[in-house]
Amino acid sequence: MKNHGEPADSFDGRPVIGICNTFSELTPCNAHFREVAEKVKRGVLQAGGYPLEFPVTSLGETNLRPTAMLFRNLAAMDVEESIRGNPIDGVVLLTGCDKTTPALVMGAASCDLPAIVVSGGPMMSGHFHGRTLGSGTDVWRLSEEVRAGTLPEAEFLDAEAANSRSAGHCNTMGTASSMATLVEALGIALPSNAAIPAADARRYTLAQMAGRRIVGMVHEDLRPSQILTRAAFENAIRTIGAVGGSTNCVIHLLAIAGRVGVDITLDDWDRLGREVPTLVDLMPSGRFLMEDFYYAGGVPAVMAEISDLLTLEALTVTGKTLGETIAGAPCWNREVIRTRDKPLAAHGGLAVLRGNLAPNGAVLKPSAATPALMKHRGPAVVFTSIEDFHARVDDPDLDVAPHSVMVLQNCGPKGYPGMAEVGNMPIPQKLLKQGVRDMVRVSDARMSGTAYGTCVLHVAPEAAAGGPLALVRDGDIIALDVEARTLTLEVEAAALERRRADWTPPADAMTGGYQSLYVRHVMGADQGADLDFLIGCRGHAVPRESH
Ligand code: FES
Repeated sequence: MKNHGEPADSFDGRPVIGICNTFSELTPCNAHFREVAEKVKRGVLQAGGYPLEFPVTSLGETNLRPTAMLFRNLAAMDVEESIRGNPIDGVVLLTGCDKTTPALVMGAASCDLPAIVVSGGPMMSGHFHGRTLGSGTDVWRLSEEVRAGTLPEAEFLDAEAANSRSAGHCNTMGTASSMATLVEALGIALPSNAAIPAADARRYTLAQMAGRRIVGMVHEDLRPSQILTRAAFENAIRTIGAVGGSTNCVIHLLAIAGRVGVDITLDDWDRLGREVPTLVDLMPSGRFLMEDFYYAGGVPAVMAEISDLLTLEALTVTGKTLGETIAGAPCWNREVIRTRDKPLAAHGGLAVLRGNLAPNGAVLKPSAATPALMKHRGPAVVFTSIEDFHARVDDPDLDVAPHSVMVLQNCGPKGYPGMAEVGNMPIPQKLLKQGVRDMVRVSDARMSGTAYGTCVLHVAPEAAAGGPLALVRDGDIIALDVEARTLTLEVEAAALERRRADWTPPADAMTGGYQSLYVRHVMGADQGADLDFLIGCRGHAVPRESH
């Protein structure tokens, strides 16, 4: 380290703090992270620590193919081994775009060195032609209008530019904002971490304060295992219900819990979320954006509003309990953060559906769905792959009607591979032209946190692993009943067994390399889609030196 020009007393026993940076120009949401890291360093130095920044695999949702989710576990391995292998005492995790947050928290949790998350913050709100635009949500909405022939493409591209006008990640309550909320609710980030816009100077203040705090955490030996307890996960699930968070949170939280050995299941999501009303009126469930959420009070105000449903004794990175952290947190705008008696949706959270079509569960986000479709029966229109879907969805001869149930197979963790965000299948053009804007859709895929619609997602076991989803045929009747939490394929068991005898698993998309390792070892969506050999905490000890 002398070649940094450091005097010898830099390493006099003071805490060495790693700054785990997911900066990449290929991850536009995290492209401002060099400045964020500089502010963290300043805080570390102020508190008497020694900061060392290191890069890890960055995952950009918009650029990575076939899907950033395929690489979440790879990045988590990178993070874990980088933290363990290097001589650091604590780590600041710089996260932003969707998968960067779970990847870094999973890796750090498996090491259990003191760790604190600093999110990069959301973009400023988009404004275009007199109205507010939200990341993703308005892209989905406007792209449907382009396909319906009601919006010129040039205007769509102008709207896209207006929508992405500053540093930061998606400004809706999409997956990035939901995950930033989730880590704040878990207590592994400082208060207000989720909502301060990336372009707001207070984002840099928070980064600096996190730099100071991690040094204190090292002195106190405050580790993720003391923070990421069952109570913390329950608090996070309830908070995600209250903010109308992304369905992706289900998978990532299960994966993080698996790293620290906390037994959280899909049923906990349903049970805990059911009691919580959605209070935050943000897109895609509502009207406002993250910037408005910050001005209204952010996550502390939401958690204060549902404090009777939370375990207030849970410890946070502040060294204080959650109760002390959120006590008296004010709300400045009751349009954005509703009170309990005037919620956006009476039952927030995410519905976990079960039945012969999803024996291990499936997920639906009621607040983003059409109420009239929450109880529905209709004939299946089956697409066997995403290529099959793209080839036929706009075919004028496709046998589809507004009451049909569109089914997409082989898009789960093994099938895609990586479980892409294709579960909110676009509506067939001929139905769009009739004015149809939502239909029941069923798949083993995920959906972008910015998306909306009556989409049954994460069907498990997935089709490529031989789940019943693989056995659905055109015209089969599928019954969805969200209130009863059921998803039923109305086909006799004997007929399904005959179809199963004819079923062969799809061929792997790639032989060798990481993708093969992933397909062989990835667990189901209902288990967090981690690799089976990565679950658990392996600690930070390294038994041998390198020379
Ligand atoms: Fe990065 Fe949405 S694309 S957060």
